[in-house]
Amino acid sequence: MSSGIREFRFSQQDFDTLRKLVKEHTGINLSDHKREMLYSRLARRLRVLNLDTFASYCELLQSNAGDELIQFINSVTTNLTAFFRESHHFDFLGQILLPQLIIKNQASRRIRIWSAGCASGEEPYSIAMVVKEVIPAGWDVKILATDLDSNVLAKGASGIYEEERINGISQPRLHRWFKKGTGIRAGRVSISPDLKDMVTFKQLNLMNGWPMKGPFDIIFCRNVVIYFDKPTQKVLFDRFANLQNEEGYLFVGHSENLFQITTRFRLLQQTIYIKCEL
Ligand SMILES: C[S@@+](CC[C@H](N)C(=O)[O-])C[C@H]1O[C@@H](n2cnc3c(N)ncnc32)[C@H](O)[C@@H]1O
Repeated sequence: MSSGIREFRFSQQDFDTLRKLVKEHTGINLSDHKREMLYSRLARRLRVLNLDTFASYCELLQSNAGDELIQFINSVTTNLTAFFRESHHFDFLGQILLPQLIIKNQASRRIRIWSAGCASGEEPYSIAMVVKEVIPAGWDVKILATDLDSNVLAKGASGIYEEERINGISQPRLHRWFKKGTGIRAGRVSISPDLKDMVTFKQLNLMNGWPMKGPFDIIFCRNVVIYFDKPTQKVLFDRFANLQNEEGYLFVGHSENLFQITTRFRLLQQTIYIKCEL
């Protein structure tokens, strides 16, 4: 805090204890300059719990208080997202990738997509809109949407968003896929049931075991690994490759890349990768 006066005592030892817990439970690496960010996000928890110091908050977490661990993790994740964020990914999906899959998967007429680190659902619903626009009726297309943070997942599963979240979406899409709320729902929009049916939200920590068997044709894992160190990224990307079809696609975030991390994928174009033969 710039004034130097803090509401709660927060020592370097507290910071080190908390960032170790963050790393253990989420894979997220917090560098020294994230100290103030951690303070401000967790100060809210101390107020709710009526605690005076971060030392007592650390004790609570270490005493294995399961409920608080969930709140702790939800507080430290960064959930920034938007519909059609990094729009070139959705152009590629609709104009190139899905038309190719219509040919490649014509025998099974089945496509499986995973949005890993989906936050509040804008990413998987954007994928679902493009799928509905391109893939013929009768195909079996499912999108798995997972995140560690239970709060944002609940928001995604509800399919209800503040109206300002849909600024910038084209008129035809707004018209087809969103319904404006009225009465007590004024100011909010709901996602069409057709899209909701395609997307399944599940809580999943990418650092732990995964119950799904795959194979996935496409994985989106965007703006998630940016918080992980390189060895953790390597393990994760290799695990993605193991769950993918031959020529499976991987989309990463605008500041992420696989260079010198894994050779299991080859770069196709900016932040879009294809799985390589082993
Ligand atoms: C910045 S958001 C990105 C959302 C979306 N993919 C996008 O690009 O718009 C990062 C998400 O990754 C999730 N996340 C972070 N660590 C995770 C982990 N170990 N397992 C699963 N999700 C994680 C966070 O909860 C957060 O919702």
